Amino acid sequence: TEAPRTELLAIAVEAARRAGELLRTGRPDDLGVAATKSSPIDVVTEMDIAAEKLITEFIGGHRPEDGFLGEEGASVEGTSGVRWVIDPLDGTVNYLYGLPAWSVSIAAEQDGRVVVGAVEVPMRAETFHAVEGEGAFRNGERVRCRTAPPFSQALVATGFGYLTQRRDNQAAVARQLLPRVRDIRRAGSAAIDLCDVACGRLDAYYERGLHPWDYSAGGLIAQEGRALVGGRPGDGASEELTVAGVPGVFEPLQTLLDDLGAWHD
Ligand code: IPD
Repeated sequence: TEAPRTELLAIAVEAARRAGELLRTGRPDDLGVAATKSSPIDVVTEMDIAAEKLITEFIGGHRPEDGFLGEEGASVEGTSGVRWVIDPLDGTVNYLYGLPAWSVSIAAEQDGRVVVGAVEVPMRAETFHAVEGEGAFRNGERVRCRTAPPFSQALVATGFGYLTQRRDNQAAVARQLLPRVRDIRRAGSAAIDLCDVACGRLDAYYERGLHPWDYSAGGLIAQEGRALVGGRPGDGASEELTVAGVPGVFEPLQTLLDDLGAWHD
C-alpha cells in the first residue's frame, strides 16, 4: 500500500523548515570545514552533518519503516516502499562563505519514483513544494515556468562539480554556450536552480554529475512547474547530465549540450 502523499508532503516540508531554521540561526561565525569528500574543494561543515541528523531523526520519528539516502551518509533500506532523499545543505560553499544561495532539499520516493519534493530557501524566506501530478508551489502559491524566449535570449544556469578533470570540460562547454544565450548563472545550489526554473526566474539549468539528493526534489518541482526535465542519473551514478528547461528552450539546449560533448569528460 502506498503512503498518503499529504502525509509525506507535510513531513518533508516540516523537516526542511526545521533544518533551514537550524542552519539560518545556528551558523557559527567561525564555521570551518569539518571534512572533505570527493576532492579538497568538496567540503562538509559541522552544520551539514547536524542538519542531516535533525532531518533523519524527525522523519524517522514519524515513519520508522522508511528508507533514507542522504548526502552526508544516511543510507537505510527501509521496509515501507518509501525512501527519503535528502540534501541537508545544498550550496555548502555558499553557506561556508556567508552567501545566501543555499537550501535544504528533501524528496520522498514511493517504490523508486519521486512523488513529493520540498526545497526550503531560508535566506529568501521561500518554501517550494510539489506533489507528483499536482503542480508546483512557492509559499503555498502555484508557480509556473516562463514562456520560452528565443534561444539566443535564454537565461541558463549551470553548476560545476568538484573534480578538476570534469571542470575542464564544464568550462569548455560553458565557453561555447555563453555567446549563444542571453547569459549564464552559477548560483551554487542545484536545488535552488531547479526551483528557479519552476517559478520563472530562469529559462533553463543544466549540470553534469549531480547526485539524487541534488536533483530529486528540485527536479519534481521543475517538472510540476511545467518545465521539461531530462537526463536524470540513476542511483549512485553521477556521470549523466541533468537538464531542466522551459519547453522551447529545453530541446535546443539538450541538442547543443550533446553537440558540445557535455556528457563526456
Ligand atoms: C552542490 C551544489 C552546486 C552544484 C554541485 C553540488 P552541495 O551541492 O548543488 O550548485 O554545482 O555539483 O555538489 O555539495 O553544496 O550539497
